Amino acid sequence: MRPSKSTPLVPPLAGLCNFAAAQRQGMSVAECVDWLKYNHYLLSRLHEIFTARITSEPLYELKTAFSHHAYLCAEHITAIRTRVSEMREPPLGLDEVPHPALKLQCDEVLCAPTTLALLDGIYEIVLPELVSSFEDYVDTTNPLVDAPSVRIARFALLEIREMVQFGNESIVVLQRTGAPRAADGWLELLSKCLAAASRLRGREAKDPGELKPVYSTKPFEFDAVPKRDARFHDSFNGGVNPEAFLYDERFSPRDKVLMLFYKRLREIDVPEMMASIIHQTPGKPWKYYRDMSRQLWDEARHAMLGEVGFVSQGIDWSSIPINFTWSLNLNTQLSPRDRHAVLYFIEQGLMPRNGKRFEWEVATESGIPLAKLIQDFDWADEVLHSQIGRAWYVTEFSNLNTALSYGDRCWSTILSQWQRYLDEGLTEHRNWWPELYRAACAGWGVTPDPAALAFNESYAEVRADLKSISGSA
Ligand SMILES: [Fe+2]
Ligand SMILES: [Fe+2]
Repeated sequence: MRPSKSTPLVPPLAGLCNFAAAQRQGMSVAECVDWLKYNHYLLSRLHEIFTARITSEPLYELKTAFSHHAYLCAEHITAIRTRVSEMREPPLGLDEVPHPALKLQCDEVLCAPTTLALLDGIYEIVLPELVSSFEDYVDTTNPLVDAPSVRIARFALLEIREMVQFGNESIVVLQRTGAPRAADGWLELLSKCLAAASRLRGREAKDPGELKPVYSTKPFEFDAVPKRDARFHDSFNGGVNPEAFLYDERFSPRDKVLMLFYKRLREIDVPEMMASIIHQTPGKPWKYYRDMSRQLWDEARHAMLGEVGFVSQGIDWSSIPINFTWSLNLNTQLSPRDRHAVLYFIEQGLMPRNGKRFEWEVATESGIPLAKLIQDFDWADEVLHSQIGRAWYVTEFSNLNTALSYGDRCWSTILSQWQRYLDEGLTEHRNWWPELYRAACAGWGVTPDPAALAFNESYAEVRADLKSISGSA
């Protein structure tokens, strides 16, 4: 047959699909919206679950991964919310529970009593269901009429499949350690919940029989006390004041990089603290949660940058006490708003010349290219965090100065507990600096600078000139 005059020379339909797929009956706008809301609900609850478990999860790699995965969920939630708002859907109804069985399922995962049960629920049930649901959505909807939804589904799939892979690998390792698993029949309960709601995502609904809660008979209680794994020890130690070393002109930029790496790794306490703010501040516009989750993820990355910095120098970071009193005290002594106030006060202290720019200059002069790169991006992230603070914290006050002095007051209430930790036998404030410095010098093949080796300023006094930059951020 001769091609008709309308036969295209190049791929038709903007490369989206062929003519057969473009004629697929697909789904109505209303059906698409229902399905997207199903995915939105699961992602929203996962965002809540990841965030709620960051602080109390001891395993460092899971703490950072939960921070990442909460952020990825937040981005896909944002994309779906935008898409639903384009589909003739006011009021959007995005905060409604689409099916009670889905709520039960997510409540159960949130309340999972052990790390392995939590990972099983998230990475073996909920996230694989999202993969399957987005895949089915792409295969069902008309790829031309609903192209914007297909696009966000494909982006979501890219990242959710990677999340599942991370989770599966973690589960295999934890199973080998004999970590306690979920109760018998619990994963089946989660699957049955999905089956009960499957009509919302294009499948025949199945009668699951009675769905009885196992772990969510009582509401979830957020544990605000940060937990750390065995590589973290002597966590009340305030025996070394890294800021005092960093701003002391006697010391070389190369030596100061060790304190920069320490400060970065110590930042694992920021996700521990920010998770508590996000979890305990209900009722904000969605963008608040998205922005705060982005910052939380950045702070987890900053900790990992410090970790990588130590690895690059051949230093075993687990030999150093990584202090956790910042997140512990803020989470247990201040209200969520006051925690945000402290965070903002500290981050503003990093904005002037002696803040993040100074750290980048030190790293630049150190002759360690990785340190320069780390500080370059850490500085850029900090500018973003300052904007997030302006948008969501400062706006609660009449002006910037009032907001800042309020943060200053909140920070002062918990700043110096050095003596109390000593009196209570929580730490001996061992000066760990000389060992770290000697190990680094051995790696560099240089003789330690006697003045740097003798540095022994602790957090016993936090000097006024260093106050605003002596916390994590
Ligand atoms: Fe940071
Ligand atoms: Fe920050």
